[in-house]
Amino acid sequence: SYMKDDNVSQETKNLISSLPSDKDFMGYSLYNYKGCWYYPNTLQAVLDVQEHFQPRKKDIILASLPKGGTTWLKSIVFAVLHREKYRENPQTHPLLSQNPHDLVPFLEIELYAGSQTPDLTKFPSPMIFSTHMHLNTLLEATTKSSSSSSPCKIVYVCRGIKDTFVSAWHYRNKLHRTEMDQASFELMFDAYCRGVHLYGPYWEHILSYWKGSLEDKEHVLFMKYEEIIEDPRLQVKRLGEFLNCPFTKEEEESGSVEEIVNLCSLRNLSSLEINKNGTIRVGVDTNVFFRKGEVGDWKNHLTPQIAKTIDEIVESRLRGSGLIF
Ligand code: A3P
Repeated sequence: SYMKDDNVSQETKNLISSLPSDKDFMGYSLYNYKGCWYYPNTLQAVLDVQEHFQPRKKDIILASLPKGGTTWLKSIVFAVLHREKYRENPQTHPLLSQNPHDLVPFLEIELYAGSQTPDLTKFPSPMIFSTHMHLNTLLEATTKSSSSSSPCKIVYVCRGIKDTFVSAWHYRNKLHRTEMDQASFELMFDAYCRGVHLYGPYWEHILSYWKGSLEDKEHVLFMKYEEIIEDPRLQVKRLGEFLNCPFTKEEEESGSVEEIVNLCSLRNLSSLEINKNGTIRVGVDTNVFFRKGEVGDWKNHLTPQIAKTIDEIVESRLRGSGLIF
């Protein structure tokens, strides 16, 4: 339904008619608003976030591209932030009975979707929210202008484009319970290479957060999925420091970091009943968020030639930024 335009106001329709447009690989219209591609309903929600959303100073916003490691980041940040609360009774930890997406709601996909204007004061502070918006658009929302720095902490996670794409492909198949044919695989790949996909282009997305993290280290943390895979303990500690709740020596010695790593591991989360047979509030089956969780799975799906094509595109777009993938 997010591809449709049934929640779009007349004002937004007028705006949309002035925006550059293109079609996604299935033929649905996408519109480019401030450098990012949206379906009409998504754009309406983003505009509503811009108008109404006001984070509190201690709130935390998690950002990512779809399939960039969102679910993992949500679970880790939740576990780091609330570790003290569940230390005595770890069996009551919310991550054991709820999917990370229900603990950390999306702004534009859940809270402000369908033209809702939610009352966010009902959430205890600090609250963790999430978004797929570009940093520039997010900052316009949270600061209500385009020049101020973020009023709260933002954590971004990204992942190599080839694994992100392959993960997105599997996600679509699972969601629609069909295996799409080779022709649509190629169409989707082509659209990805052109940057014409929801929240794309990939490189604009990651560059917005990369630059933001260099300009405002205190508020924007840039993380890579691959780095969390490589050394999850280190990244969990890094998060603790960034969020102003560093792990104490005692905590480290008592295994608190490892506990979080294990709790949030793909193996553990995907084995829980809630994540095997549950459904999140927005109506998606929980199991679609968990698959292999590996680095380099693209090798099983992309030919070396196709991989080279997409690598060259990303390389040329990131050149000079200091960001390497
Ligand atoms: P794969 O499809 O490559 O397996 P998102 O959370 O942004 O939707 O991204 C989904 C990807 O993250 C999937 O990748 C999924 O398997 C992986 N993932 C989900 N939970 C994870 C976890 N706890 N640890 C590591 N990877 C995880």
